[in-house]
Amino acid sequence: MEKLYGEKINTAVFISGRGSNLKSLIKYNKKRNSPILIKLVISNNLNAKGLTIAKKSKIIKYIINLNNKNFEKKLLNKLFYHKISLICLAGFMKILSKNFIKKFNKPILNIHPSLLPKYKGLNTHRRVIKNKEKFSGSTVHLVTSKLDSGKIVLQKKVTVSKRENEKTLEKKILKIEHFLYPEAIKKFLLNL
Ligand code: GRF
Repeated sequence: MEKLYGEKINTAVFISGRGSNLKSLIKYNKKRNSPILIKLVISNNLNAKGLTIAKKSKIIKYIINLNNKNFEKKLLNKLFYHKISLICLAGFMKILSKNFIKKFNKPILNIHPSLLPKYKGLNTHRRVIKNKEKFSGSTVHLVTSKLDSGKIVLQKKVTVSKRENEKTLEKKILKIEHFLYPEAIKKFLLNL
């Protein structure tokens, strides 16, 4: 029997672009058995495609302006106002400061397209192919102030074929991410 959550965890998803993981998380949050309720979508990019996905689902959107030196303070206020207890980073291209993580003081998860601790940072698929790796994958982990280094929640592997290029590997990994992120959230919240 699936555990039924009386009270769902108010969640904010942070994006910067396409938002395909956001889409899968929105789909997940609509399920009766889902432990999360996505109340906010935060973007640092006004033109992020993911914002239209949020709009379609009538989720409150909030755009942050990284040039505003008070943006973290404003963002924290927004998160506290909406009683957010979980942040899910999904293709969010800005590193959150140590101060922000400390002040938020609740879990922040991220999905990274590699088998961490290997291939932290950007251009993971390019580096994986260049190094002729046999496997790659995706990892959901807790966010700390050190890039892509927090505790691993869940990881899934894919094989890298000989004919793989960046595009095909990205597509292959995105496909598994759309299942991995909801599964990882469920695992993480059940073990809290
Ligand atoms: C994903 O591959 C994720 O692992 C990485 O950024 C990509 C975001 O894709 N952090 P999307 O915007 O969710 O489609």
